[in-house]
Amino acid sequence: MHDPSSANPKPSKGQDIWGGRFEREPAELMQAINVSIGFDKRLWAQDLAGSKAHAAMLRAQGVLNATDEAAIQSGLDQIRTEIEQGRFPFRDQYEDIHMNVEARLAELIGEAAGRLHTARSRNDQVATDFRLYVRDACHHAHQRLIALVKALLARAEEEAETLMPGFTHLQPAQPVTFGHHLMAYVEMFGRDAARFKDASARMNECPLGAAALAGSPFPIDRHATAAALGFAGPTRNSLDSVSDRDFALEALSAASITATHLSRMAEEIVIWSTPQFGFISLSDAFTTGSSIMPQKKNPDAAELVRAKTGRIFGALTSLTLVMKGLPLAYSKDMQEDKVPVFEAFDALDLALAAMAGMILDLTPNRERMAAAAASGFSTATDLADWLVRELDIPFRRAHHITGASVKRAEALGVDLPNLPLSELQALEPRIHQAIYQVLTAERSVASRLSFGGTAPSEVRRQIAFWKERLQNEA
Ligand code: ARG
Repeated sequence: MHDPSSANPKPSKGQDIWGGRFEREPAELMQAINVSIGFDKRLWAQDLAGSKAHAAMLRAQGVLNATDEAAIQSGLDQIRTEIEQGRFPFRDQYEDIHMNVEARLAELIGEAAGRLHTARSRNDQVATDFRLYVRDACHHAHQRLIALVKALLARAEEEAETLMPGFTHLQPAQPVTFGHHLMAYVEMFGRDAARFKDASARMNECPLGAAALAGSPFPIDRHATAAALGFAGPTRNSLDSVSDRDFALEALSAASITATHLSRMAEEIVIWSTPQFGFISLSDAFTTGSSIMPQKKNPDAAELVRAKTGRIFGALTSLTLVMKGLPLAYSKDMQEDKVPVFEAFDALDLALAAMAGMILDLTPNRERMAAAAASGFSTATDLADWLVRELDIPFRRAHHITGASVKRAEALGVDLPNLPLSELQALEPRIHQAIYQVLTAERSVASRLSFGGTAPSEVRRQIAFWKERLQNEA
């Protein structure tokens, strides 16, 4: 046993093998392009778990003797402690996390370390480590999404009656409630959470034991290692096991769709918090000032959530292009799978947390939203619907009469609720006083009782549905 920190750097594996034929410079370049420990050290916990499960299985199958297995297990435990305490020597010369762990194990326990790699290859090892990592990342994203949905539900409940304009083309369309608008995102993020769950379930098969590509001649028990690592079972084809990364692509797809939803919501927060809209204000917690303009309060967190979408989609594109056109089975190209996944899930984690923070933090300006909801002839559809319902006018003609009413109101500089009855009757003589009951934003919203509609009672029904669904989730 010797102290690795005082050891002279050993030549790399490549230099050992090809050193006589190559000049020093290309060898260094080879190490530079080949080395992955700088990023795959993030897989250390998964790598140790995989090795421990593998060693225990080899012992149970009589491939390893009890003494060697005990030495391997305690050496791996010691490595865990070293890493946790920041004392582990991560060394470029050992290329990746798998060889760093194995090299350190040899320093700690001697020759028995060399028996750990029986019946496995780095190909099934990395496939297993990475699946474990992505499965965790999906679980974590799912938890964050549930927290965001809970934040939205709490705010939607408070704002179930708050009027706001509903938009199409970002033009005022029909009044809705702020609670209803927030609940639209509950639906989106709820589907995102389900996508991560589905992806986790599909990837939950263990590649360990596929070995390099063809399986192993040793009497291994792949069901045992799969169970020990919390997988539903082993993968069924050794070539597929070591050569696909579709589980990561699926997770990145789910992340990208989530990022799209986050970005849309972030965009709305940016718009709503402008003085021109003034629908909401954000506290100091999620805004920044300007170094030159003292009046500014910028929604930086929302803007950065919006921008993280680029990074997350970039990761999906990047890994898709790495995988496209690779012949079976493993190729070193696949080492490039990790950085995009790490980056995307780091960004997603931050974006989801920041969004939940902003949702809980924002203050709606109810008066301003209600005033905006009532303006812009937003109840024109209600007027047309009234003509259909009360006067049995075909909708197309009702639409025409309403259009003319809006034109008249615009000319007179009034909104629909203030358009004199005589003006309406000039367009359709049978219109009477009762029409004014449907022309307020409040009545418009209250009347939309269809399932999934914006009426406060219906919004509350959907909130109750989600609360119950989340209870079953937990
Ligand atoms: N560092 C490698 C990776 O991440 C491990 C697998 C190496 N396998 C091989 N056949 N060279 O993909």
